[in-house]
Amino acid sequence: MKVKFKAFAQFSLVALLAAACTTDPDSAGLEYMPDMYRSPAIEPYVDYGEVRGQINDELKMHRSAMVPPRYAIPYYGTDSATVHTLLPYHRLPGRLFAETHGLYQYDLSSNEDADYEYKLAAADVNPLKLTSKEVADKMFADGKALYAINCNHCHGEKGDGNGPMVASGAYSGAAVLSGLTIAEGQMFYSIYYGKGMMGSHASLLNKKEIWTLVHYVRKFQDSNYGTFDANGLPAWGTTKPAADTTGK
Ligand code: HEC
Repeated sequence: MKVKFKAFAQFSLVALLAAACTTDPDSAGLEYMPDMYRSPAIEPYVDYGEVRGQINDELKMHRSAMVPPRYAIPYYGTDSATVHTLLPYHRLPGRLFAETHGLYQYDLSSNEDADYEYKLAAADVNPLKLTSKEVADKMFADGKALYAINCNHCHGEKGDGNGPMVASGAYSGAAVLSGLTIAEGQMFYSIYYGKGMMGSHASLLNKKEIWTLVHYVRKFQDSNYGTFDANGLPAWGTTKPAADTTGK
């Protein structure tokens, strides 16, 4: 009896191991303890009350994360300059932006000229000022970090339009940022709502972050930008670049 059991145990073990193998190279085979290597997919924004495949009625129907009401203004503290910078953007996306950039939840400009608001944006100036070397250094450091995460893969580290996505051949047409001559308000508009093959960043970055990036982009165009001379005076031309009224 003892011998038989041992043989049976050995046979079972071999059978179990053999069953674990499959010919499909993409399959992990039989998983003995899936919980060990597969964590449950938590969906924080969908409220099924589901935990490990079981519906938990107590959790179900509880209020989940919801989109704030339209025109709600998040609390940004009490610093008036910061609050002012982060208030909703006053420019509307062009007439066609719902179709071209998926901006369905926005009020669109009704102007016949789809670039009407883009042209107006030429008048907007960066509310974040480069008042000293310290402020500028911090701005460029923040800009560099934001750029590395959000822009580098298309526009490239040096803003030459040759990021890894473009170099790999997967994508083309990223603007050469170092050669741009458009007004900073228009840069903001395009980063915010998107332009051509560039998507909207309105849900990814707040306005302060985008204005920080606008400073960073201007540094590509002029290495003196944000530097100061021995007297602490700005070493770059502080006049605004000319507006692009062609909309192209
Ligand atoms: C998916 C690739 C992609 C990403 C990511 C991307 N861009 Fe672009 N960007 C483009 C393309 C393509 C254009 C050219 C659009 C056109 O002129 O049709 C462009 C244009 C621009 C322009 C010129 C806009 C104008 O009005 O002419 C600026 C400024 C710019 N990008 C900055 C940024 C910044 C800053 C980021 C990071 C937040 C970023 N882009 C992320 C692809 C991208």
